Amino acid sequence: MSKQFDVIVIGGGPGGYIAAIRAAQLGFNVACIDEWKNAKGGPALGGTCTNVGCIPSKALLQSSEHFDHAGHGFADHGINVSGLSLDIGKMLARKDQVVKQNNDGITYLFKKNKISSFHGRGSFVKAAEGGYEIKVAGAAEETIVGKHIIVATGSNARALPGAAFDEENILSNDGALRMGAVPKKLALIGSGVIGLEMGSVWRRLGSEVTVLEALPTFLGAVDEQIAKEAKKAFDKQGLKIELGVKVGEIKSGKKGVSIAWTNAKGEAQTLDVDKLIVSIGRVPNTIGLNPEAVGLALDERGAINVDGDCKTNLPNVWAIGDVVRGPMLAHKAEEEGVAVAERIAGQHGHVNFNTVPWVIYTHPEIAWVGQTEQQLKAEGRAYKAGTFPFLANGRARALGDTTGMVKFLADATTDEILGVHMVGPQVSELISEAVVAMEFKASAEDIARICHAHPSLSEATKEAALAVDKRTLNF
Ligand code: FAD
Ligand code: NAI
Repeated sequence: MSKQFDVIVIGGGPGGYIAAIRAAQLGFNVACIDEWKNAKGGPALGGTCTNVGCIPSKALLQSSEHFDHAGHGFADHGINVSGLSLDIGKMLARKDQVVKQNNDGITYLFKKNKISSFHGRGSFVKAAEGGYEIKVAGAAEETIVGKHIIVATGSNARALPGAAFDEENILSNDGALRMGAVPKKLALIGSGVIGLEMGSVWRRLGSEVTVLEALPTFLGAVDEQIAKEAKKAFDKQGLKIELGVKVGEIKSGKKGVSIAWTNAKGEAQTLDVDKLIVSIGRVPNTIGLNPEAVGLALDERGAINVDGDCKTNLPNVWAIGDVVRGPMLAHKAEEEGVAVAERIAGQHGHVNFNTVPWVIYTHPEIAWVGQTEQQLKAEGRAYKAGTFPFLANGRARALGDTTGMVKFLADATTDEILGVHMVGPQVSELISEAVVAMEFKASAEDIARICHAHPSLSEATKEAALAVDKRTLNF
């Protein structure tokens, strides 16, 4: 007799493991199946985010930023550093340790919440009495049955046709996070989130970095004014970003990678580099899930078809995170995981897609929530804008980090906040205030009237809200 569960979650990334914890909190008997293997072949819960995404990238962004500051920033503070050197092996080992702490943390949480953890690949077998039969193929093979199934199988890096990932010369996010030496010359294809974050890491560590981007505009999804300000900062840092390019043949050999490309003027170019990172987006992952066995419907992109509540075409089968529509972000996956567990329990789980924040962890950081100015213009919505530069913020001056601004967009009549956009120091943290404000349908004036600590970067948020009504106090 197969083991029987109320809820089986397939995938232990931020969508899946959070869904499992919430379902267990709600009193369900829960199993989570995850196939990720650590270097020793053992389980490594946390998915892309923990193993080759959010967490290791932020660890390397931090380490490389320290190195950059020590080399270029400390002198301004009267701190002279001599004999600065890089131990890349130690830096990578620290990153691996941070990943392990997170893997272990989730294992602990599963034990605490009495979640049955299976290491191996989960696949649909058939609809069965009492739910769905799921095969777990790990060190051994077994079949378990779940009344509800939550699919949270995530996504994989998209490869360029004719340039398969070998993780030696042509790297996905995985190889990009574990290069054992700093490449002299590095190319990235795609100047999206990964292109900018990974390009920043290796530039700070000493690579000569070129980013080739197909679109003629830089960071098209970001508010134009913010993207422009960020581009200025990246140019100054020496991150070479070529826009409007067409990538041609890519040859990989013992000496590295040669990329044929055409620039925005239509001129043929060749770029020879030691390593190439391809960061042109990600594809939903259903490899080995066997959705056909039960007739689980996918869309034309290979994502699992779901409605606004993450319900698939099958009764009691749900799907969340990167494997479904919507932004591929860990916190979006988590919110969907919580909401689905609550819906299974008959509650009214809720995800507000209008207030999902985005952060790009470069220096300066870029963060936003809600609509951009170009979106409001396209909609024909009457709005007011207010901006405040970090140059006029006392804390930013003390930090020696005055690049960027905070920008508010509010409805012209009601003053309701429609979008908040930031580029500058620590805006990954500052954006939370804007998210809370928008969740509570606050007006720009609400923020302008709130007491903010002095001196703090958050005063720039208050001042930008005041700027909507053209009454900044410090600018
Ligand atoms: P995943 O995290 O991909 O987890 C899916 C899990 O399911 C994996 O462990 C996989 O092995 C397992 N699995 C798949 N199929 C099966 C199967 N059949 N059986 C068993 N197990 C299976 N997002 C942010 O919000 N902030 C960031 O800073 C950020 N940084 C990123 C940096 C990089 C380099 C990358 C690549 C991504 C980053 N992301 C970031 C995106 C984030 O990682 C994803 O949005 C998030 O991991 C999606 O979560 P998920 O649970 O849907 O899927
Ligand atoms: P992306 O969608 O952010 O950027 C891909 C870029 O590649 C785009 O600018 C696109 O125009 C360009 N591109 C596509 N095809 C191309 C081609 N043939 N030649 C040249 N350029 C081409 O995807 P990315 O950077 O791979 O990241 C994937 C996802 O992972 C992100 O969209 C995000 O959801 C998530 N992520 C989130 C992070 C965060 O929240 N801080 C960090 C890293 C990743």
